[in-house]
Parts: sequence; structure tokens; C-alpha cells
Amino acid sequence: MEFFPSPLTLDQTRSLVSRIGSSFEEKGFGLWAAELKTTGEMIGFIGLSVPAFEAPFTPCVEIGWRLSPTHWGKGLAPEGAQRVLEFAFRELGLPEIVSFTSGLNQKSRRVMEKIGMVYNPRDDFEHPLLPEGHWLRPHVLYRIRKETQGAVP
Ligand SMILES: CC(C)(COP(=O)(O)OP(=O)(O)OC[C@H]1O[C@@H](n2cnc3c(N)ncnc32)[C@H](O)[C@@H]1OP(=O)(O)O)[C@@H](O)C(=O)NCCC(=O)NCCS
Repeated sequence: MEFFPSPLTLDQTRSLVSRIGSSFEEKGFGLWAAELKTTGEMIGFIGLSVPAFEAPFTPCVEIGWRLSPTHWGKGLAPEGAQRVLEFAFRELGLPEIVSFTSGLNQKSRRVMEKIGMVYNPRDDFEHPLLPEGHWLRPHVLYRIRKETQGAVP
């Protein structure tokens, strides 16, 4: 079972790029392009966003990621996400970052764990933008606070 939707159309891609640009202009953060240090190849994104729905944990800033499958399994998402957390806490001065995903998305949950985020079952929620009964609707939430970042086991 995989967790990436159908490829975006050209129009959807343009709209996403525009929204990412607006986020950097308005908030000072967004989804950064993730590039390989060795070659400069762009392999996906890792970054920060503000969820566009209401839930018990909002308003908040979320960290998220999506990499090309050919580059999975090399620890690249955790490596980039650590840098993003440092930026969020040191440069932006944010007190807490959250991350959420379908409870079934073990790959993403592993990234959250590797960067020191903590899961609490009490934060489990049904994603309000997915229809009731959708297999991806049950979500888990992970958190990390400024004072604990860097204390990764
Ligand atoms: C989640 C994602 C960013 C992880 O990136 P990554 O750089 O591969 O992260 P890691 O190398 O640390 O691997 C994390 C876990 O993914 C799993 N994994 C990695 N590569 C895999 C592969 N090719 N096949 C199966 N599982 C794999 C492993 O469980 C791994 O944990 P482990 O190191 O304890 O074994 C990537 O899988 C992805 O882009 N997924 C699709 C998008 C997505 O789900 N985004 C989150 C939406 S909320």
C-alpha cells in the first residue's frame, strides 16, 4: 500500500508552486526543494506549512516531506527534516512543530520518530478534508518542542 496520490497535472503543479512561493513571501517559510548535495538533483520537498483545516491541535505549523521513490531508504528525509526543524526553532523561534499522517503510513511515521518527534495516541484524529470512511482518514499526530529538538536518541 503506497501513500502518494496520482501525479499532478501541469495546472496543479503550477498552482502548487505558486502557493509555495506565496507561503515564503507571507510567512517566511514553506516547502523547500530537497536537492542532493553531491549532484544538485532535486529529489522532492521537505518543509513547513500551516494546515488549512481546524482540528484540536490547530493553529499550528506542520513539517512534511515527499521524496522521489528512487531516493527512499537512505535517510535523506530525516537529514533534511532536521535542518528544517533547526530553522523553525532557531530562526523562526516557533515553540512547537507538529507532523501528521495516516496511521498506516509507517515510512512517514519513521521519519517523525527519527527526528525526535513524539506520538501521543490522545492526539489521534480523523482528517476533516477526507470523506468519512476513507481508508486514509484516521490520522496520527507527532509533536516536537523547541526545548527538546536536538535531543534525538
Ligand atoms: C516518507 C518518506 C519521505 C521517507 O523518506 P526516506 O528518505 O526514505 O526516509 P528514510 O530513509 O529515513 O526511511 C524511513 C522509513 O521508510 C521505510 N522505507 C524506506 N525506503 C523504503 C523502501 N524502498 N521500501 C519500503 N520501505 C522503505 C523504512 O521503514 C524506513 O524506516 P527504517 O530506516 O527504520 O527502516 C518517503 O517514503 C516518501 O516520500 N513517501 C511518500 C510521501 C509521503 O508519504 N509523505 C508523507 C505524507 S504525510
